[in-house]
Amino acid sequence: NALSRRMLLGGGLAVAGAALVSARGFARAPAALPERAEAAASGEVKLSLVASEMQARLLGPEGPATPVWSYGETPFRLVRIRQGQTLSIDFENRLPEHTSIHWHGLRIPNDQDGVPYVTQQPVRPGERHAYRFTPPDTGTFWFHPHCDTVAQLGRGLAGVMIVEGDESRPYDADLALVLKDWRLDPKTGGYLPFATRRGELRAGTFGTVRTANAEVAPRLEIPAGGDVRLRLLNLDSTRVGSVGFEGMEAAVIAIDGNPIAPFPLSEWRLGPAMRLDVVVRAPAEGAEGRLIDFFAAEPVRLATFVGTGAAQPKRDFDPAPLTRSAIPEPRRKGAGRLRLAFATASGGKAALTVDDDDPLSQALLDSLCAASGVNWSINGQAWPGGDHSRLPPPLFTLQAGRSYVAELTNETPHVHPVHLHGATFKVVKSTRADLPVHFADTVLLTPKDRVTIAFVAPEPGAWMVHCHLLEHQDSGMMGYVRVA
Ligand code: C2O
Ligand code: CU
Repeated sequence: NALSRRMLLGGGLAVAGAALVSARGFARAPAALPERAEAAASGEVKLSLVASEMQARLLGPEGPATPVWSYGETPFRLVRIRQGQTLSIDFENRLPEHTSIHWHGLRIPNDQDGVPYVTQQPVRPGERHAYRFTPPDTGTFWFHPHCDTVAQLGRGLAGVMIVEGDESRPYDADLALVLKDWRLDPKTGGYLPFATRRGELRAGTFGTVRTANAEVAPRLEIPAGGDVRLRLLNLDSTRVGSVGFEGMEAAVIAIDGNPIAPFPLSEWRLGPAMRLDVVVRAPAEGAEGRLIDFFAAEPVRLATFVGTGAAQPKRDFDPAPLTRSAIPEPRRKGAGRLRLAFATASGGKAALTVDDDDPLSQALLDSLCAASGVNWSINGQAWPGGDHSRLPPPLFTLQAGRSYVAELTNETPHVHPVHLHGATFKVVKSTRADLPVHFADTVLLTPKDRVTIAFVAPEPGAWMVHCHLLEHQDSGMMGYVRVA
């Protein structure tokens, strides 16, 4: 029930692990994923992406329009390619400020990574920039700017990148679901401030309108009785949800796009930038299933799925595993050891323990750090200023191709979704969350948590590591490793 669920989550625990051991409803999947049978596609896919402002009715068809920033005619441009194909992208910036595109989770060359001042010059208003790369891995990824992210993503600037070729048996449908909140004035459809002092210093500033694919609680038709692949993407700047389904059986098949042996989904903590691929058994014709965020005091319905068309014959729910990925397996022997401590910038807990209702306390809060706009740090080092134009020294210098084991610690009372560019890492263990061992590009670090990850250092270059809670990222919790 909702209450015990809440208590469990209040303890900072992810609840997926419980489901792992008590596989219910379908046979336990084999631990090893099948090899890929089919040959990868090849060839070049040309794509034009134009960042510009468009109008979207996020508050419903009768509501006021909101000026949304997007890479296409609709919010959240969706790009689908096959593994092996080369993307050749002509990017044009028609926004009033500079930007760039980072391809979140894709293991691509450093000079295509899209970080202004670090891997490329910013793309100024009216300018174009060419990106060209061949994504090595299948899965569900996304892309977004890497400067002024609080405002640019706050206005919706993000797209979905699907690299196909991982299915060992086709599903009956395949749907991406972008979860994102917006900070809107309900009367005008315009934006409320994306960042607040209070949010910046704590768990971030939450949106006021929750949407799935830029609609409030949409109703989506799926083939009745079918096995449907749903790609859930949390593209919110702030909110950590705990997603699960009602009225449909569901199994996890990939985390951050990386295949994992299927296991039943009860709930999954999905932080900003994190993705989860699930297979659901669609309800009978006319019946409903629901995607729920169970994290809040009152569970929130994010989307409703309605079964349509002739029902499929009855059979057990036993989702086919995806095929294995080609992510290099980190080795324990001879691995380098790293520690990354996520903390406030001052080391000062004072800013975080002031009384919310006391105006004097609030004044103190506003004066703290106000001069620098720097609140957070990694290993005692805060990213200077909001953009990337002044580069601090790297957190570490790594050796390309060598394995590393990194221990991430959280010295704050807040959750941090930690993201590393360039390498997909193995989440080996967490002291607070009961997680399966899995590959990911973003991992949730809950308060007091200690998460161990392992990865093989990518090709030489500067690779960012940061909190993906954007107000934290933009106020200090960002750094980079230099791979030599
Ligand atoms: Cu999704 Cu450095 O970001
Ligand atoms: Cu953070």
